[in-house]
Amino acid sequence: MTLPDPAPPPLRLRPTMLSDLDDVIRIETDSRNLPFITPWERTQHEAALRIPDFRHFVVEAGDNRASGSRDGFVILQGCRNPHRSVELKRIVLQREGQGHGLGRACVRLLKRMAFGDLHAHRFWLDVKSLDRRALALYASEGFVEEGRLRESVRITGMDDAAGYDSLVVMSMLDREYQARCALGCEGLR
Ligand SMILES: CC(C)(COP(=O)(O)OP(=O)(O)OC[C@H]1O[C@@H](n2cnc3c(N)ncnc32)[C@H](O)[C@@H]1OP(=O)(O)O)[C@@H](O)C(=O)NCCC(=O)NCCS
Repeated sequence: MTLPDPAPPPLRLRPTMLSDLDDVIRIETDSRNLPFITPWERTQHEAALRIPDFRHFVVEAGDNRASGSRDGFVILQGCRNPHRSVELKRIVLQREGQGHGLGRACVRLLKRMAFGDLHAHRFWLDVKSLDRRALALYASEGFVEEGRLRESVRITGMDDAAGYDSLVVMSMLDREYQARCALGCEGLR
């Protein structure tokens, strides 16, 4: 008998503090996450904590909320963008917590934040074409592919010029988000 997946754990995004950065960087530089992102220097994270155009959050899920552990982090950029174009700059979860619905829950919460609190007209991101899981997640959450920046990032660990990946640019517009809400596709737990 196949049992259904257990319900994903409750989720909170709380503003990142300087004291969180060791864990943020540890999660970001985990060798299993590195192929999918271009890690920042600590100073870039520090800047993102104080520059108002950014929102930097620690992901807290399930029982970890009580213990104050960090299950991942997310960064929004363009929060003061005059064109109301907000970017999902980064989402990285602890390797052990991946594949249980937490990423989807985060993306849903971030959409609500972007279109609700930040009044975004456009919410966008780029993702490496080799990152099949993230691509599937964004597409199934209603993000539309806008185009590809061909061979724009080096594949981690490869030195020769053949080792390039393309970035897929995806977005959602506010009217598309409203339509998804009306259809009941944007439920939060
Ligand atoms: C990408 C990431 C945020 C997704 O979070 P997650 O909690 O692992 O993903 P979820 O469990 O919510 O799964 C979301 C969807 O991904 C897809 N998916 C999961 N594993 C997959 C795989 N191995 N291949 C293809 N698609 C996959 C499925 O569509 C899944 O939804 P479903 O199971 O309901 O059908 C997380 O895996 C992560 O931090 N990865 C490393 C960093 C990264 O790639 N960040 C994104 C950079 S743009």
